[in-house]
Amino acid sequence: MTRERTGLLIVFEGTDGTGKSTQLQLLARTLTEKGCTVISSREPTEGQYGQQIRALYSNRDSVSREEELALFLADRKEHVDTVLNPGLTAGRIILCDRYFLSTIAYQGAAGMDTAQILEKNAFAPDPDICLLFQASIQTGVDRITGGRGEELNDFEKADYLQKVASIFNEMDFPYIHRINAAQSIEDVSRDVLTAIEPLLEKLT
Ligand code: TMP
Repeated sequence: MTRERTGLLIVFEGTDGTGKSTQLQLLARTLTEKGCTVISSREPTEGQYGQQIRALYSNRDSVSREEELALFLADRKEHVDTVLNPGLTAGRIILCDRYFLSTIAYQGAAGMDTAQILEKNAFAPDPDICLLFQASIQTGVDRITGGRGEELNDFEKADYLQKVASIFNEMDFPYIHRINAAQSIEDVSRDVLTAIEPLLEKLT
């Protein structure tokens, strides 16, 4: 049986500090002003598994890579079952900050097999579009440590992020749309709107 899907799943991906969360909020506001019903969501979620994942940010080595992957998958399964699939069936526009492409890139960079990660995510519906935010790792690191005044967590170290970025760069899923995230917030926001406009036209 194929599930009837009338909504849209718009995914925001990229290495840390590329501005995707800011852009997600801007797009949510613009779409809401246009009268769309928008669900803004993110992974890791605030659910039980997402909280366990956040606890790993400062001591990633306390679990094996396999256990870490299992936590991201459990979190996603819960997210798909409780938020994404019901929202898509109800015709909502879902904006999701990170999704299974992050698992391929981040857990792949940590040494897990990327093809197997993709297979393990077969339960997760494909995005209608994945906006892949791209900027140099240094730009992202500077935004995190300078702009946000935060320290880098265990998932954000520069050499690791370089590997993450190269896996993102190699991805060729048909729904990926690359965004030059080194531009100003306004210019990135304009590119995001241009990218999703054809999808919105299909909805109406
Ligand atoms: P964020 O909330 O700042 O986006 O941080 C989430 C971190 O978790 C980020 O460094 C990427 C990482 N992550 C993974 O390693 N695998 C995943 O599947 C997801 C969704 C996130």
